[in-house]
Amino acid sequence: MTDNNETNGAPSDEEGRAPKRVIGTPPPPPTHDLLPDDTGGAEGTGGYQLDEKKARAAERAAGAFFVLTFVAGIAFIVFYAVWPGHVGNINRATSSNYALGISLTLAFLGLAVGMTIWVRHLMTSKEIIQERHELSSPPEDRQVFNEYFQQGVQESGITQRRFLRRTLLLASAPLGLLPLVLLRDLGPLPEKKLRHTAWKNGTRLVVDGTGQPLKASDFNSPGGIITVVPEGAQNNLDDIAKAAVLLINLPPDQMKVKKGRENWHVGGIVAYSKICTHVGCPAALYEQTTHHILCPCHQSTFDALDSAKVIFGPAARPLPQLPIGVNSEGYLVATSDFHEPIGPSFWERGKSKV
Ligand code: FES
Repeated sequence: MTDNNETNGAPSDEEGRAPKRVIGTPPPPPTHDLLPDDTGGAEGTGGYQLDEKKARAAERAAGAFFVLTFVAGIAFIVFYAVWPGHVGNINRATSSNYALGISLTLAFLGLAVGMTIWVRHLMTSKEIIQERHELSSPPEDRQVFNEYFQQGVQESGITQRRFLRRTLLLASAPLGLLPLVLLRDLGPLPEKKLRHTAWKNGTRLVVDGTGQPLKASDFNSPGGIITVVPEGAQNNLDDIAKAAVLLINLPPDQMKVKKGRENWHVGGIVAYSKICTHVGCPAALYEQTTHHILCPCHQSTFDALDSAKVIFGPAARPLPQLPIGVNSEGYLVATSDFHEPIGPSFWERGKSKV
């Protein structure tokens, strides 16, 4: 018996319900097996036979790296349990961080190398090609698009209304130049400006806020710390932003003075830039017992006894030291500007040396 729909030439129910293809969507791809079993090879290898000798060697190598991962993982846990970094001093924290970091690195490295050996030597390397449909649209779709586009152009009136078209082009012209204005706004380059501060030979150190000049005898309490700025620059915020200095009274017998800086301090009174070399916060916290300067932003810690060397945190270089001395009246003065740029390490890489 013949189906009624077919007999009438009308689509069947199933055909009627099938979604119609929307213009612009690709036709459904023909189905393919990704790994045709055309060679009858070993199971799980995509039809390829592995060289069993090489495969076993690769298996042993991968296994060795997995064992390394196991050992390093256990070591990480043991280090964490028996050598916690938060107990004890800063040196212990540093050692603990190294131990944890190295063991974790080895664990992940072993895993990655083992997996790589496995994939490269024990899995198939057969080339697989997935056939794709034609990327270009079929001619009928392009024809329909073209008709729509022409219709849109006609309806917009852009071809007939010459005045409107020209004024629109005129209006768009400056918009193309806007990125140039924005780029220009990134400059000008700082050039040498960031290499200099308001300090120079003979400038007196005055207390930030009061403007009072200081004598060494005024600042003789051990462990004392005060913020000073260059005399004459107190009211210039730009100058102060770069020239703020921490004046610290250190025990001279505990100082590790760098070669060439022997006369940069006055009986243990040292001056370091207050601008953190990480990203420029004021490094204003001071621990009197350890003589550590701390930056509250990201916990960079500098050793005031050792030329403000970084002992912890993300800062990449010491706080620059300002050479100081005493003038004929006994006041503390700078003997020169800083010998290196102050502030974030980025500026240190400026192209022009003083
Ligand atoms: S700005 Fe000082 S540690 Fe980040």
